[in-house]
Amino acid sequence: MSQAIVLGIETSCDETAVGIVRGRKLLANVIASSVQEHARFGGVVPEIASRAHLEAMQPAISQALRDAKISLSDVDAIAVTAGPGLVGALLVGVGAATGLALGLDKPIYAVNHLAAHISVDALTHSEILEPTIALLVSGGHSSLLQVDDITSSIAKLGATMDDAAGEAFDKIARVMKLGFPGGPAIDALAKDGDAESINFPRGLTTSNDWLTRPFDFSFSGLKTAVARYLEATPNYAKANVAASFQEAIVDVLLLKSLAACKASAIDSLVIAGGVGANSRLRALAQERCLKAGIALRIPAPGLCTDNGAMVACLGSLMVAAGRAPSPIAFDADSSLQVATISLH
Ligand code: KG4
Ligand code: ZN
Repeated sequence: MSQAIVLGIETSCDETAVGIVRGRKLLANVIASSVQEHARFGGVVPEIASRAHLEAMQPAISQALRDAKISLSDVDAIAVTAGPGLVGALLVGVGAATGLALGLDKPIYAVNHLAAHISVDALTHSEILEPTIALLVSGGHSSLLQVDDITSSIAKLGATMDDAAGEAFDKIARVMKLGFPGGPAIDALAKDGDAESINFPRGLTTSNDWLTRPFDFSFSGLKTAVARYLEATPNYAKANVAASFQEAIVDVLLLKSLAACKASAIDSLVIAGGVGANSRLRALAQERCLKAGIALRIPAPGLCTDNGAMVACLGSLMVAAGRAPSPIAFDADSSLQVATISLH
């Protein structure tokens, strides 16, 4: 079943997303987001997200089947995000996916959202991904990983000690009243700013940090520095702050990613997760990886932020690798660790 048709469901946060793949070919990628309902609260409200998932699920599945030009009975396997994420939100996706698997009498793959972010590169590149270093940067997670096999072996090299990179974007955007989510707003505003105008701190990059925590991140000092700057500078130039803040984050993410490649003698880097959509991160990664002789892969921006294609893709890679499906009665896990790629 190497060209299996897999339908993937993602509901870990505010996107109700359904993707369909055949082997490594993307057939459908439907995303219904409830982000507008959360915007006035400045963050995702779990109860609102769960209800929105319930309402959006059936239409999203139907739309994905229409886009893929298949019927439900053509589906060979179901994949679903089992965690990490908001537990009430995850449970809506898990309920829908187990219902489909039971009704169709097909296997189900309960997969890790973080691993799915990394795996989605397989829809764009046919070459083998592994071994690779992965920089995973989303709204809830920031880590450096060594991926030896995306279906069975991911090891954590380091992670953030406080905020995730996306969270830092969102928090600074909130202070600057740029709306939610903040990443895209800061990205756009930074295009008109001077990234060298303000020298914001690069967390965990002292020589002692490079010895003791080379692959960990910290963004709380940066956040405080930006907040202090805003307070002390009443007529600050918004675009310059956005550009300088973004540069500080992107610089440190790439310094550590390239150091991880060097330390592990792996000349391949994948950047995954919502912050991977950041235009400055993409451009600077290209520049630095070219210089260092590292092969760089970053999924298209629309596949970096949460989507169902990534879940279907990881499910499909599991099928192709002959991995065992999950038991039908698995538990969603809101704090699932990245090393647990699927539930057994
Ligand atoms: O992976 P994702 O869609 O959801 C999670 O799993 O968390 O990541 C969402 C995060 C948010 O914090 C959002 O602000 C950030 O990704 N993000 C960006 C950009 N687009 C989304 N951050 C910086 N620049 C962007 N263009
Ligand atoms: Zn995500």
